Amino acid sequence: MRSVIDVLDLSVEELDELIKTALDIIDNPEKYAHVCDGKKLATLFFEPSTRTRMSFEAAMYELGGHVISMSEAGSSSAAKGESVADTAKTVSCYTDIIAMRHPKEGAPLVASLNASVPVINAGDGGHNHPTQTLADLLTIYREKGSFENLTIGFCGDLKFGRTVHSLINALSRYGNNKMILISPEELKLPSYVKKDVLQKNRIPYEQTTDLVGAMPKLDILYMTRVQRERFFNEEDYLRLKDSYILDVKKLENAKEDLCIMHPLPRVNEISIAIDDDPRACYFKQVLNGKYMRMALILKLLKEAGTI
Ligand code: CP
Repeated sequence: MRSVIDVLDLSVEELDELIKTALDIIDNPEKYAHVCDGKKLATLFFEPSTRTRMSFEAAMYELGGHVISMSEAGSSSAAKGESVADTAKTVSCYTDIIAMRHPKEGAPLVASLNASVPVINAGDGGHNHPTQTLADLLTIYREKGSFENLTIGFCGDLKFGRTVHSLINALSRYGNNKMILISPEELKLPSYVKKDVLQKNRIPYEQTTDLVGAMPKLDILYMTRVQRERFFNEEDYLRLKDSYILDVKKLENAKEDLCIMHPLPRVNEISIAIDDDPRACYFKQVLNGKYMRMALILKLLKEAGTI
């Protein structure tokens, strides 16, 4: 049974196909309005979410399907100690496809090994968030027309930011990109991502603490929230949480066609004064996420022979 746990579970050709489908959904929504009639998506969210859960649910409704939802770990039998494996076997009896978010890294993988329907990782701990990457890729494609020849700045919590890890993995498969990793010393990109992704794929990168210094070089600036829920120590979080606040002044030397992204939720990382700047793309990401999740649900249900 085909599941998507990591963005690398999808080949470059499959990413292109998903983008093509999403663009067709945007242009011809009526063509897709009944493709999933009578089918069900289960959203199992053991961690808070607004965008991912609701966009998965909106995606399934817009395909004509239905949704069953578990939006709080405490309201399920996980609170009584039921394992992820048993939960996946159980929910497979009720649904055609599962989207799962879990605080434990690897939990959606365990679910996929035990489910009899496709499982989509909707974010696992500080590890991966492949469908956010799909939203990010569609946004980059619509703004830049290509995934090549780009200088991308990742700024903020690069240690715990799972969306950063997934997007670096995805963009490392395309040609002639450069990455600038902007973070406080304590929140640098984990060495395994640098070694296994950037160095292995010979992607040029630099590490800096200086956002303003990096700004003129950037085609894309990917801001991130400091991930309070992953810290062991509240004092460290409070010290680091406002390390980078993007405001109008910091954009003075930015390119005219800079694409400013953020997976959201935002806390203080981007001043609301920037929301009306034409370079602000973070609410476009939110909408693009729904289209890419529609495309992914369609792909996995077709491959499973469900539709
Ligand atoms: N970007 C993202 O995953 O947002 P939510 O946590 O609201 O789902």
